[in-house]
Amino acid sequence: MSNSVLKKLYTRDYIARQILRLGEEIGRDYGNEEILLVGVLKGAFLFFADLVRAIPSPTLVDFVRLASYGFHTQSTGIVELRKDLEFSVQGRHVVIVDDILDTGCTLEFLRQRLLSRQPRSLKTCVLLDKKQARKAAVEADYVGISLESGFVVGYGLDYQENYRGLPDLYLLHERQEAGTGGPFEESDK
Ligand code: IMP
Ligand code: MG
Repeated sequence: MSNSVLKKLYTRDYIARQILRLGEEIGRDYGNEEILLVGVLKGAFLFFADLVRAIPSPTLVDFVRLASYGFHTQSTGIVELRKDLEFSVQGRHVVIVDDILDTGCTLEFLRQRLLSRQPRSLKTCVLLDKKQARKAAVEADYVGISLESGFVVGYGLDYQENYRGLPDLYLLHERQEAGTGGPFEESDK
């Protein structure tokens, strides 16, 4: 942990602008139709809170808790549903809201689960789309920010449950030589 370095990738202002754009896109697609927004805990909690306020269409909110990572930066590919929805999905327009699409295993698992409950429609929205690690054949319908690779923390995203409260997004990497200061690189202070 003490060897981790954080390099700022996207500022809170940039993130906020992307979320406003996503809200407009979703509003354009659904108009006055009601959407059941399904937030994936825990990583999407801040993104979800900002996105719901950016969508002009009427929304219902609900949450699932999925776990796929454990304490590693590599996806295990094994997904577990730890908390299910309280709303019924049947006949509703559903949009899954997740923090990051990486291998795609998590989103594909949830998509299949919800599709079997016969929604009127089902789409997906992610804050970050990490293109390089994709294993499952799944793409998100709405994407905030695309990047190739790297492990990202902050704005709800964690590494071993740390850094979720940082307002900006950071790239996490290991310090090469023995460090002296804190986890932030000089330019990020
Ligand atoms: P996937 O199943 O490999 O697509 O992984 C998706 C989940 O893994 C996300 O919802 C995150 O919770 C977690 N994850 C993947 N990449 C990162 C990252 O760079 N930072 C933090 N969490 C990540
Ligand atoms: Mg997640």
